[in-house]
Amino acid sequence: DLVPTRADRFSFGLWTVGWQGRDPFGDATRPPLDPVESVHRLAELGAYGVTFHDDDLIPFAADNAERERCIKRFRSALDETGLVVPMMTTNLFTHPVFKEGAFTANDRGVRRFALRKTMRNIDLAAEFGAKLYVAWGGREGAESDAAKDPRAALDRLKEAVDTLCQYVRDRGYDIRFALEPKPNEPRGDILLPTIGHALAFINQLEYPEMVGLNPEVGHETMAGLNVVHGYAQALWADKLFHIDLNGQHGLKYDQDLRFGTADVKSAFFLVDLLESAGYDGPRHFDFKPPRAENIDGVWVSAAACMRTYLILKEKAAAFRSDPRVVAAQAAAGVGELSTPTLAPGETLADLLADPAAYENFDADAAGTRAVNIEALDQLALEHLLGVA
Ligand code: GCO
Ligand code: MN
Ligand code: MN
Ligand code: MN
Repeated sequence: DLVPTRADRFSFGLWTVGWQGRDPFGDATRPPLDPVESVHRLAELGAYGVTFHDDDLIPFAADNAERERCIKRFRSALDETGLVVPMMTTNLFTHPVFKEGAFTANDRGVRRFALRKTMRNIDLAAEFGAKLYVAWGGREGAESDAAKDPRAALDRLKEAVDTLCQYVRDRGYDIRFALEPKPNEPRGDILLPTIGHALAFINQLEYPEMVGLNPEVGHETMAGLNVVHGYAQALWADKLFHIDLNGQHGLKYDQDLRFGTADVKSAFFLVDLLESAGYDGPRHFDFKPPRAENIDGVWVSAAACMRTYLILKEKAAAFRSDPRVVAAQAAAGVGELSTPTLAPGETLADLLADPAAYENFDADAAGTRAVNIEALDQLALEHLLGVA
């Protein structure tokens, strides 16, 4: 059944459907979208959640009265539709004050302002019941290695995350953080460019258990990496707190295409991974409906993200239960990798004393064995192409 329901846990950022199509070369092609309208449309389409940066809901320059008005209207729309806010985040990249970074700006006053802006929005996240707080370091980077000390920048980034964790603990909020890696854009190079860098960074933090990842399909692709491997390593480390699903054609500007459009085979295996590993967080779409589309095209694009996810979920399940696939997986030894290399109770001494493992092991014969990858991969492709 390809009709999205709340149980599918699909969510969208206000900044995705609300993107007006402004790019470095052209003005907005679409009028502003009222967040209240977005909530209603997303609910009708079958989403369960909506996410946002502080500035998506409340203009940067709003006074307290306007802020309260924005929050109240939005709260009513949530109540009317039953949509939830699973995740919130901070805009630390649009205003010129962040032109040289936010948590890692050379200017200490900017860093303190960035922390306060984030803490204020964390209070709002707690009010809306968001359990996840995303930190994407859009401006935390450099174009010049002369003007940024990357080790000091990492110290300040750690200081910021530690401080925010301490804030959440002091306030007793039930909130965890998810770092979003990206290699570049808008900065020439961004700190924590990949899932791997971010995982290593988390190990240096004061409260590593409070911090995980929000990987984005497009960002790992921009770094030329295997998206499925990256998400899998985050899962393996128990750090896949949240996900940004979208599409990206190779190593070029951040395309934020609708989910599944670019590398559909990778999308297939990503959905297969998420579903088979029991990932239970939101299926969050962070995409930009192409600026050539008008508002009708925006909703077509949003609906298609969810529909494609459900199609791939169905296809992944059909792939896994196909007896030919089960046989091909056995022929390729896929399941054997789950058998530990040492036997239960086997010691290092036992391994060293086992002639079958080395002295009598016929490496040449093993080098000629069939591994049967192609047959299995072709079956996956045929499932995906609908001819299996
Ligand atoms: C991007 C990023 C952003 C972040 C968002 C949340 O496309 O470069 O994905 O969209 O996800 O700002 O902080
Ligand atoms: Mn992106
Ligand atoms: Mn993103
Ligand atoms: Mn994005």
